[in-house]
Amino acid sequence: MIQKVLNFLKNTEDYISGEDISRHLKISRAAICKYVHQLKELGYDIVAVPHLGYHLIRTPDRLFPEEILYNLDTKFIGKNIYYFETVTSTMDIANQLILKDTPEGTLVVAESQTEGRGRLGRSWFSPKYKGIYVSLILKPSIFPNQAGLLTFLCAVSVVEAINELTSLDTKIKWPNDIILSQKKLGGILLELSAEMDRIHYAIVGIGINVNNTKKDLITGATSLKEEKAQHIDRVRLLQEILRRIEFNYLEFKNDKGSYLLRRWRMFNDSLNRRIKIISKHQIWEGVAVDVDTDGALLLREDSGI
Ligand code: BTN
Repeated sequence: MIQKVLNFLKNTEDYISGEDISRHLKISRAAICKYVHQLKELGYDIVAVPHLGYHLIRTPDRLFPEEILYNLDTKFIGKNIYYFETVTSTMDIANQLILKDTPEGTLVVAESQTEGRGRLGRSWFSPKYKGIYVSLILKPSIFPNQAGLLTFLCAVSVVEAINELTSLDTKIKWPNDIILSQKKLGGILLELSAEMDRIHYAIVGIGINVNNTKKDLITGATSLKEEKAQHIDRVRLLQEILRRIEFNYLEFKNDKGSYLLRRWRMFNDSLNRRIKIISKHQIWEGVAVDVDTDGALLLREDSGI
Protein backbone atom coordinates (compact mmCIF):
# COMPACT_ATOMS: atom_id res chain seq x y z
CA MET A 1 0.00 0.00 0.00
CA ILE A 2 2.90 2.36 0.75
CA GLN A 3 3.92 1.89 -2.91
CA LYS A 4 0.43 2.97 -4.03
CA VAL A 5 0.49 6.09 -1.86
CA LEU A 6 3.93 6.91 -3.22
CA ASN A 7 2.72 6.40 -6.79
CA PHE A 8 -0.06 8.92 -6.19
CA LEU A 9 2.44 11.48 -4.96
CA LYS A 10 4.80 10.80 -7.87
CA ASN A 11 2.03 11.02 -10.45
CA THR A 12 0.81 14.40 -9.20
CA GLU A 13 2.85 17.42 -10.18
CA ASP A 14 0.96 19.67 -7.80
CA TYR A 15 -0.69 18.94 -4.45
CA ILE A 16 -2.98 16.00 -3.87
CA SER A 17 -5.39 15.97 -0.97
CA GLY A 18 -5.45 13.17 1.58
CA GLU A 19 -9.15 12.88 0.78
CA ASP A 20 -8.49 12.15 -2.90
CA ILE A 21 -5.89 9.47 -2.11
CA SER A 22 -8.16 7.99 0.53
CA ARG A 23 -11.10 7.78 -1.91
CA HIS A 24 -9.05 6.16 -4.68
CA LEU A 25 -7.23 3.64 -2.48
CA LYS A 26 -10.22 2.99 -0.21
CA ILE A 27 -8.22 3.45 2.96
CA SER A 28 -8.72 5.92 5.83
CA ARG A 29 -7.04 9.32 5.95
CA ALA A 30 -5.33 8.23 9.16
CA ALA A 31 -3.75 5.34 7.21
CA ILE A 32 -2.53 7.79 4.58
CA CYS A 33 -1.01 9.97 7.29
CA LYS A 34 0.80 6.89 8.58
CA TYR A 35 2.20 5.99 5.13
CA VAL A 36 3.29 9.58 4.46
CA HIS A 37 5.05 9.56 7.80
CA GLN A 38 6.82 6.30 6.90
CA LEU A 39 7.88 7.73 3.54
CA LYS A 40 9.32 10.81 5.27
CA GLU A 41 11.29 8.54 7.56
CA LEU A 42 12.72 6.81 4.50
CA GLY A 43 14.00 10.19 3.28
CA TYR A 44 11.18 11.34 0.97
CA ASP A 45 10.73 15.09 1.23
CA ILE A 46 6.96 15.56 1.40
CA VAL A 47 5.20 18.76 2.40
CA ALA A 48 1.68 18.80 3.81
CA VAL A 49 -0.25 22.07 3.43
CA PRO A 50 -3.69 22.52 5.04
CA HIS A 51 -6.52 22.66 2.44
CA LEU A 52 -4.13 21.70 -0.36
CA GLY A 53 -2.77 18.31 0.65
CA TYR A 54 0.54 16.56 0.04
CA HIS A 55 3.32 17.35 -2.39
CA LEU A 56 6.42 15.26 -3.07
CA ILE A 57 9.41 17.57 -3.37
CA ARG A 58 12.33 15.18 -3.47
CA THR A 59 13.02 11.47 -3.68
CA PRO A 60 15.98 10.08 -1.71
CA ASP A 61 19.02 8.71 -3.54
CA ARG A 62 18.25 5.12 -2.59
CA LEU A 63 17.65 1.96 -4.58
CA PHE A 64 14.35 1.25 -2.79
CA PRO A 65 12.21 -1.44 -4.47
CA GLU A 66 9.37 1.13 -4.69
CA GLU A 67 11.64 3.35 -6.78
CA ILE A 68 12.97 0.58 -9.01
CA LEU A 69 9.47 -0.79 -9.61
CA TYR A 70 7.98 2.61 -10.42
CA ASN A 71 7.20 2.52 -14.17
CA LEU A 72 9.46 -0.52 -14.67
CA ASP A 73 7.96 -2.15 -17.75
CA THR A 74 9.72 -5.53 -17.63
CA LYS A 75 7.67 -8.74 -17.36
CA PHE A 76 9.81 -10.68 -14.91
CA ILE A 77 13.33 -9.26 -14.62
CA GLY A 78 13.53 -7.22 -11.42
CA LYS A 79 9.85 -7.63 -10.55
CA ASN A 80 10.64 -9.37 -7.27
CA ILE A 81 13.16 -7.36 -5.26
CA TYR A 82 14.96 -7.95 -1.97
CA TYR A 83 16.53 -4.74 -0.68
CA PHE A 84 19.24 -4.36 1.98
CA GLU A 85 21.24 -1.47 3.38
CA THR A 86 24.26 -3.67 4.03
CA VAL A 87 24.98 -7.31 3.28
CA THR A 88 28.11 -9.44 3.12
CA SER A 89 27.49 -9.99 -0.59
CA THR A 90 24.30 -9.91 -2.64
CA MET A 91 25.54 -13.25 -4.04
CA ASP A 92 25.21 -14.80 -0.57
CA ILE A 93 21.60 -13.62 -0.27
CA ALA A 94 20.72 -14.82 -3.77
CA ASN A 95 22.25 -18.23 -2.98
CA GLN A 96 20.02 -18.46 0.11
CA LEU A 97 16.92 -17.37 -1.83
CA ILE A 98 17.50 -20.07 -4.44
CA LEU A 99 16.97 -22.69 -1.73
CA LYS A 100 13.44 -21.30 -1.27
CA ASP A 101 12.55 -21.77 -4.92
CA THR A 102 12.60 -18.05 -5.69
CA PRO A 103 11.26 -17.11 -9.13
CA GLU A 104 13.43 -16.31 -12.11
CA GLY A 105 14.19 -12.61 -12.42
CA THR A 106 14.40 -12.03 -8.66
CA LEU A 107 16.82 -9.24 -7.85
CA VAL A 108 18.86 -8.73 -4.70
CA VAL A 109 19.91 -5.10 -4.21
CA ALA A 110 22.25 -3.70 -1.58
CA GLU A 111 23.44 -0.18 -0.81
CA SER A 112 26.75 -1.58 0.44
CA GLN A 113 28.58 -4.88 0.82
CA THR A 114 31.11 -5.82 3.45
CA GLU A 115 32.45 -8.82 1.49
CA GLY A 116 31.63 -7.96 -2.10
CA ARG A 117 33.43 -10.40 -4.37
CA GLY A 118 34.72 -10.52 -7.91
CA ARG A 119 36.27 -13.12 -10.20
CA LEU A 120 39.30 -15.15 -9.18
CA GLY A 121 38.70 -14.55 -5.48
CA ARG A 122 39.16 -10.80 -5.77
CA SER A 123 37.11 -8.46 -3.60
CA TRP A 124 34.67 -5.85 -4.88
CA PHE A 125 34.83 -2.54 -3.03
CA SER A 126 31.23 -1.52 -2.35
CA PRO A 127 30.96 1.85 -0.56
CA LYS A 128 27.50 2.81 0.70
CA TYR A 129 25.03 4.61 -1.60
CA LYS A 130 27.70 5.06 -4.28
CA GLY A 131 27.36 2.15 -6.64
CA ILE A 132 25.00 -0.46 -7.99
CA TYR A 133 25.50 -3.86 -6.35
CA VAL A 134 22.93 -6.41 -7.43
CA SER A 135 22.50 -10.14 -8.00
CA LEU A 136 19.96 -11.52 -10.43
CA ILE A 137 18.55 -15.05 -10.41
CA LEU A 138 18.18 -16.69 -13.82
CA LYS A 139 17.04 -20.22 -14.70
CA PRO A 140 17.76 -20.68 -18.39
CA SER A 141 17.47 -24.03 -20.16
CA ILE A 142 21.02 -24.08 -21.51
CA PHE A 143 24.06 -26.33 -21.40
CA PRO A 144 26.75 -25.46 -18.85
CA ASN A 145 29.24 -24.64 -21.63
CA GLN A 146 26.93 -21.79 -22.76
CA ALA A 147 26.79 -20.25 -19.30
CA GLY A 148 29.53 -17.75 -20.12
CA LEU A 149 27.05 -16.12 -22.47
CA LEU A 150 25.06 -14.99 -19.43
CA THR A 151 28.07 -12.90 -18.44
CA PHE A 152 28.09 -11.48 -21.98
CA LEU A 153 24.37 -10.81 -21.73
CA CYS A 154 24.69 -8.76 -18.58
CA ALA A 155 27.83 -6.97 -19.74
CA VAL A 156 26.16 -5.98 -23.03
CA SER A 157 23.01 -4.84 -21.19
CA VAL A 158 25.02 -2.75 -18.72
CA VAL A 159 27.03 -1.10 -21.49
CA GLU A 160 23.93 -0.43 -23.59
CA ALA A 161 22.17 1.18 -20.63
CA ILE A 162 25.14 3.33 -19.58
CA ASN A 163 25.94 4.50 -23.09
CA GLU A 164 22.29 5.30 -23.77
CA LEU A 165 21.81 7.32 -20.58
CA THR A 166 25.17 9.07 -20.36
CA SER A 167 26.50 9.16 -23.97
CA LEU A 168 29.77 7.80 -22.61
CA ASP A 169 31.66 5.17 -24.59
CA THR A 170 31.75 2.24 -22.20
CA LYS A 171 33.32 -1.00 -23.46
CA ILE A 172 33.58 -4.64 -22.45
CA LYS A 173 36.86 -6.35 -21.77
CA TRP A 174 36.62 -10.12 -22.02
CA PRO A 175 35.24 -11.82 -20.10
CA ASN A 176 33.52 -9.64 -17.55
CA ASP A 177 35.00 -6.17 -17.16
CA ILE A 178 33.12 -2.97 -17.93
CA ILE A 179 35.72 -0.44 -19.02
CA LEU A 180 35.71 3.32 -19.40
CA SER A 181 38.76 5.39 -20.32
CA GLN A 182 40.88 2.22 -19.99
CA LYS A 183 39.86 1.95 -16.33
CA LYS A 184 37.55 -0.49 -14.58
CA LEU A 185 34.02 0.85 -14.15
CA GLY A 186 32.22 -2.38 -13.33
CA GLY A 187 32.22 -6.13 -13.45
CA ILE A 188 29.98 -9.15 -13.81
CA LEU A 189 30.25 -12.24 -11.62
CA LEU A 190 28.57 -15.51 -12.56
CA GLU A 191 27.85 -18.28 -10.07
CA LEU A 192 26.22 -21.47 -11.25
CA SER A 193 24.70 -24.69 -10.13
CA ALA A 194 24.81 -27.23 -12.94
CA GLU A 195 25.12 -30.89 -13.90
CA MET A 196 26.80 -32.26 -17.03
CA ASP A 197 23.97 -31.39 -19.39
CA ARG A 198 21.96 -28.62 -17.75
CA ILE A 199 22.03 -25.58 -15.54
CA HIS A 200 19.88 -25.58 -12.42
CA TYR A 201 20.23 -21.86 -11.94
CA ALA A 202 22.61 -18.97 -12.47
CA ILE A 203 23.21 -15.99 -10.22
CA VAL A 204 24.63 -13.02 -12.05
CA GLY A 205 26.22 -10.33 -9.91
CA ILE A 206 26.62 -6.84 -11.30
CA GLY A 207 28.80 -4.20 -9.69
CA ILE A 208 29.12 -0.68 -11.11
CA ASN A 209 30.95 2.34 -9.73
CA VAL A 210 28.37 5.07 -10.19
CA ASN A 211 28.68 8.07 -7.89
CA ASN A 212 32.04 7.19 -6.35
CA THR A 213 34.47 10.04 -5.96
CA LYS A 214 38.23 9.38 -6.10
CA LYS A 215 38.42 8.45 -2.44
CA ASP A 216 35.76 5.76 -2.95
CA LEU A 217 37.66 4.08 -5.79
CA ILE A 218 40.50 1.60 -5.79
CA THR A 219 43.55 2.17 -7.99
CA GLY A 220 42.82 1.57 -11.66
CA ALA A 221 39.08 2.06 -11.22
CA THR A 222 36.79 4.86 -12.29
CA SER A 223 33.13 5.82 -11.82
CA LEU A 224 30.44 7.39 -13.96
CA LYS A 225 30.50 10.48 -11.78
CA GLU A 226 34.25 10.89 -12.26
CA GLU A 227 33.96 10.56 -16.04
CA LYS A 228 30.78 12.55 -16.55
CA ALA A 229 31.43 15.13 -13.82
CA GLN A 230 27.84 14.88 -12.63
CA HIS A 231 25.73 12.91 -10.21
CA ILE A 232 24.02 9.93 -11.86
CA ASP A 233 20.52 8.70 -11.03
CA ARG A 234 21.20 5.11 -9.90
CA VAL A 235 17.54 4.10 -9.99
CA ARG A 236 17.11 5.25 -13.57
CA LEU A 237 20.30 3.43 -14.59
CA LEU A 238 19.32 0.22 -12.85
CA GLN A 239 15.86 0.28 -14.45
CA GLU A 240 17.43 0.66 -17.89
CA ILE A 241 19.83 -2.21 -17.18
CA LEU A 242 16.93 -4.45 -16.14
CA ARG A 243 14.99 -3.57 -19.31
CA ARG A 244 17.99 -4.36 -21.48
CA ILE A 245 18.67 -7.61 -19.65
CA GLU A 246 15.11 -8.78 -20.23
CA PHE A 247 15.21 -7.87 -23.92
CA ASN A 248 18.60 -9.50 -24.49
CA TYR A 249 17.63 -12.57 -22.45
CA LEU A 250 14.52 -13.19 -24.54
CA GLU A 251 16.57 -12.77 -27.74
CA PHE A 252 19.18 -15.15 -26.37
CA LYS A 253 16.53 -17.79 -25.68
CA ASN A 254 15.20 -17.43 -29.22
CA ASP A 255 18.37 -17.45 -31.27
CA LYS A 256 20.86 -19.17 -28.92
CA GLY A 257 23.09 -16.12 -28.74
CA SER A 258 23.79 -14.86 -32.25
CA TYR A 259 22.27 -11.39 -31.63
CA LEU A 260 24.06 -11.20 -28.30
CA LEU A 261 27.43 -12.07 -29.82
CA ARG A 262 26.95 -9.40 -32.48
CA ARG A 263 26.22 -6.83 -29.78
CA TRP A 264 29.18 -8.05 -27.70
CA ARG A 265 31.53 -7.69 -30.68
CA MET A 266 30.29 -4.09 -31.14
CA PHE A 267 31.16 -3.14 -27.58
CA ASN A 268 34.21 -5.27 -26.97
CA ASP A 269 37.59 -3.80 -26.18
CA SER A 270 39.51 -7.10 -26.43
CA LEU A 271 39.47 -8.28 -30.05
CA ASN A 272 42.49 -7.54 -32.24
CA ARG A 273 44.47 -6.58 -29.18
CA ARG A 274 47.42 -8.21 -27.47
CA ILE A 275 46.11 -9.55 -24.23
CA LYS A 276 47.08 -11.60 -21.25
CA ILE A 277 44.59 -14.05 -19.76
CA ILE A 278 45.09 -15.01 -16.16
CA SER A 279 43.17 -17.98 -14.76
CA LYS A 280 43.67 -19.64 -11.39
CA HIS A 281 46.16 -22.10 -12.90
CA GLN A 282 47.60 -20.61 -16.06
CA ILE A 283 48.51 -17.48 -17.97
CA TRP A 284 48.10 -17.13 -21.77
CA GLU A 285 49.35 -14.29 -23.94
CA GLY A 286 48.63 -13.43 -27.55
CA VAL A 287 46.28 -11.56 -29.86
CA ALA A 288 42.54 -12.02 -29.31
CA VAL A 289 41.07 -12.84 -32.72
CA ASP A 290 37.43 -13.61 -31.90
CA VAL A 291 35.03 -15.37 -29.53
CA ASP A 292 33.34 -18.69 -30.33
CA THR A 293 29.59 -19.34 -30.09
CA ASP A 294 29.88 -20.08 -26.36
CA GLY A 295 31.77 -16.86 -25.71
CA ALA A 296 35.21 -18.46 -25.30
CA LEU A 297 38.03 -16.20 -26.44
CA LEU A 298 40.02 -17.38 -29.47
CA LEU A 299 43.61 -16.35 -28.99
CA ARG A 300 46.48 -16.43 -31.47
CA GLU A 301 49.29 -17.30 -29.13
CA ASP A 302 52.80 -16.02 -29.74
CA SER A 303 53.79 -19.54 -30.77
CA GLY A 304 51.35 -19.09 -33.68
CA ILE A 305 48.70 -21.54 -32.35
C1 BTN B 1 34.54 -8.74 -11.24
O1 BTN B 1 34.85 -7.71 -11.83
O2 BTN B 1 35.39 -9.59 -10.97
C2 BTN B 1 33.10 -8.96 -10.87
C3 BTN B 1 32.61 -7.99 -9.84
C4 BTN B 1 31.18 -8.26 -9.44
C5 BTN B 1 30.72 -7.41 -8.28
C6 BTN B 1 29.27 -7.60 -7.98
S1 BTN B 1 28.63 -6.42 -6.84
C7 BTN B 1 27.16 -7.33 -6.71
C8 BTN B 1 27.54 -8.78 -6.66
N1 BTN B 1 27.88 -9.14 -5.30
C9 BTN B 1 29.16 -9.46 -5.18
O3 BTN B 1 29.70 -9.80 -4.13
N2 BTN B 1 29.78 -9.37 -6.35
C10 BTN B 1 28.88 -8.94 -7.40
